[in-house]
Amino acid sequence: MTANFFKPLAGLARNTSCTNLALTYQVRNVSLTAANIPMARYGGRHTVTMMPGDGIGPEMMSYVKEVYKHAGAPVDFETVTLDPSTDNYDDLYNAIASVKRNGCGIKGNIETKMNRPDIKSRNVEMRNELDLFVNRIHCKSQPGIKTRHEDIDIVVMRQNTEGEYAMLEHESVGGVVESLKIITEQSTERLCRYAFEWARANGRKKVTLVHKANIMKVTDGMFMQVAKRVSADYPELEHNNMIIDNCCMQLVSNPWQFDVMILTNLYGTIVTNLICGLIGGPGVISGANIGPRYAVFEPGTRNTGSSLVGMNKANPCAMLNASADLLDHLKLDYHAQLIRTAVDKTVNLDKIHTEDLGGQATSIDVVQNVLNHIKAATK
Ligand code: NAI
Repeated sequence: MTANFFKPLAGLARNTSCTNLALTYQVRNVSLTAANIPMARYGGRHTVTMMPGDGIGPEMMSYVKEVYKHAGAPVDFETVTLDPSTDNYDDLYNAIASVKRNGCGIKGNIETKMNRPDIKSRNVEMRNELDLFVNRIHCKSQPGIKTRHEDIDIVVMRQNTEGEYAMLEHESVGGVVESLKIITEQSTERLCRYAFEWARANGRKKVTLVHKANIMKVTDGMFMQVAKRVSADYPELEHNNMIIDNCCMQLVSNPWQFDVMILTNLYGTIVTNLICGLIGGPGVISGANIGPRYAVFEPGTRNTGSSLVGMNKANPCAMLNASADLLDHLKLDYHAQLIRTAVDKTVNLDKIHTEDLGGQATSIDVVQNVLNHIKAATK
């Protein structure tokens, strides 16, 4: 894949009339150069930041470690704990420094308290600080999981650092509150280029841009226009656009019309959750947060699963798949394939399913089965 989407644009967004807040935001998001900074690798082993997060995160990470050990993956983890109950961000900045040092990380989700408007989401802050501008989630039906629809295969490319997640809200006068949705031409262009390049490199046929430009004519309007402009460089790929409301209905009634989708931050997370719901729920699909220099891997729908803590009931497959994506990123193809195949066989062939998939297996039953496949393949 070329690095086109990491190139700074010739002209930054023309925002002579924009507010200081928007300017600050834009400057913070100016794309970094695509310098190929080497990842930490001591004695042939990679070091990766592990952020267990809340809820079932720590339990899932213990499975990842176990699976890596049996697969012989040459990876050491630097574990960083994030505490959502503290008011300062020291833990977060430790984690960010660790990912910067190591080049990549794997994480569970970090709880964000709804009743504390003064505390920003650590998940979002991390994506912004590491410039992880795209969240890529490959939503593919699993033949062993019985769902209403079969054969869904959609790749969601979600804008991951701006839009509705700008976290710039204020009360202008009593009883009137505002939330800024910020879209920059630059970030939109690199997102679209990333999506089209990925589609081309992976033999996909169509890229659909999802928007609400009939109401948000300036913000979503620009989002749509940039995609249209970028699409001209990829004539072999069909390009269309769809309003988010209709898109949700179409996803439920005819999901097979979608191939690769580009969405703003909020539409992206809603649509990802919708599609994951169609193909097996929160415990199956992984997601990758990608930027020009760093990458962080996690379960696709980012739930904490807190109601399942200590119950040995959570489905570990989403986190194990995220751990395979991480190995792909490190170019440890053999180990990635070993783990992905073992998870695939467990879910689709042996049908060892946890309760969320209608089965009765425990988390440990699933992990044990994955380990058995790894042992058999490496004997
Ligand atoms: P949740 O953690 O309550 O999970 C939703 C449902 O999925 C629950 O029934 C849970 O048991 C189930 N579930 C989750 N993972 C599972 C697994 N591996 N196996 C089986 N079942 C599983 O999700 P909710 O309420 O959406 O989020 C909880 C917290 O995460 C909140 O604090 C929220 O702020 C934060 N969050 C943050 C996001 C972000 O990107 N910043 C995105 C979504 C949630």
